[in-house]
Amino acid sequence: MSQTHKRILLGISGGIAAYKCAELVRRLKDQACEVRVVMTESAKQFITPLTMQAVSGEPVADSLLDPAAEAAMGHIELAKWADLVLVAPASSNIIAKMASGIADDLLTTLLLATPAKVAIAPAMNQQMYAHLATQSNLATLASRGVAVWGPGQGEQACGDVGKGRMLEPNELVSLALKTLTPEVPLLAGKTVTITAGPTREALDPVRYISNHSSGKMGYALAEAALALGAKVNLISGPVTLTPPRGCDVHSVSSALDMHQAALALAPGSDVFIGCAAVADYRAADIAEQKIKKQGDEMTLTLVKNPDIIADVAALTAQRPYTVGFAAETQDVAQYAQGKLKNKGLDMICANDVSQAGIGFNANDNALTLFWDKEQQSLPLASKSELALTVVKAIAGKLN
Ligand code: PMT
Repeated sequence: MSQTHKRILLGISGGIAAYKCAELVRRLKDQACEVRVVMTESAKQFITPLTMQAVSGEPVADSLLDPAAEAAMGHIELAKWADLVLVAPASSNIIAKMASGIADDLLTTLLLATPAKVAIAPAMNQQMYAHLATQSNLATLASRGVAVWGPGQGEQACGDVGKGRMLEPNELVSLALKTLTPEVPLLAGKTVTITAGPTREALDPVRYISNHSSGKMGYALAEAALALGAKVNLISGPVTLTPPRGCDVHSVSSALDMHQAALALAPGSDVFIGCAAVADYRAADIAEQKIKKQGDEMTLTLVKNPDIIADVAALTAQRPYTVGFAAETQDVAQYAQGKLKNKGLDMICANDVSQAGIGFNANDNALTLFWDKEQQSLPLASKSELALTVVKAIAGKLN
């Protein structure tokens, strides 16, 4: 893909925001992008194929069963042609189809057939956007690596006010360009090992102690390290995310399993990032049979788990640059700096997990990085954006 030949397949689904697509195509072409447009049947109720053909300078594709179109650029070729498939506006209907893998028209079929990066720009009524079904579908798509751009907040065509407006064309253009511009391979030739997600500490064959870590922050770090050219080992606790393509995944369950995998991989690594929410304690004994209900109270005896990241930082031979995370609910800077020192780390990324909308199981986060006597605040952003900044900061510390 050359600088001047970014190929964007714009998929337009049915929604009032489709009228902005003519402007979107023009702005993409201003940036030397090649744009081809695919429209769903309902999209054509909002903007005509003729308009989209005029602005893109290419025939608009709208049917899976059109022999003439298939004879020119067939749907599989179109799916392979794109560097980025952008669905804008993405209605709740197409989001649901994508999440379920339905392929009942040209656009949904292309979305299954494309190896390219896929991004969606949701646009719908604020109530529809907030609906659990839509939120669950969006989470499914995000976990598969689909970039979700927006939606924005404000007055809607139906008169409602809230979240659900498609991002403006200029915002979508800058996100598309950012996505299509390859990162400088600052970590080429380096190996990065990352722990992510929670651990599960079994109590008996059916019960365990765990926490709310989703793995999103750790998986975003893995994606960022891959983008910078690193070889990535991802030691993952039990999560429901799809790992980024290209990393070596080591699935573990308990802190002891994670400890073993980490100590095996850390010595061959240049960087170790402990993003997992490791249980500090495990059951002293795991009952062989399901524990029976007893009186009104029950006492569990717990024993301390090994401190994985402290053991990595204490390696004397082949010690990687070691970065921890600190999940705090109060006195964030003080506790994080204490962990940086006590665990012997090179850097720690602190997050205030008492704040709504960030930290555990959120799509966004805000971090403060501490190293030596220095610090850097990274304000609220998506975990993907923050992960890239963190990994670039780490790359800058390597010799
Ligand atoms: O997974 P998400 O839903 O995206 O949420 C992200 C996150 C909030 C889990 C992440 O940003 C985060 O803060 N991870 C660290 C969570 C944590 O366990 O923090 P801690 O302050 O308890 O531990 C400090 C450091 O020691 C961490 O690097 C942790 O991985 C490590 N540790 C802790 C205990 C232990 N036995 N071994 C360890 O290695």
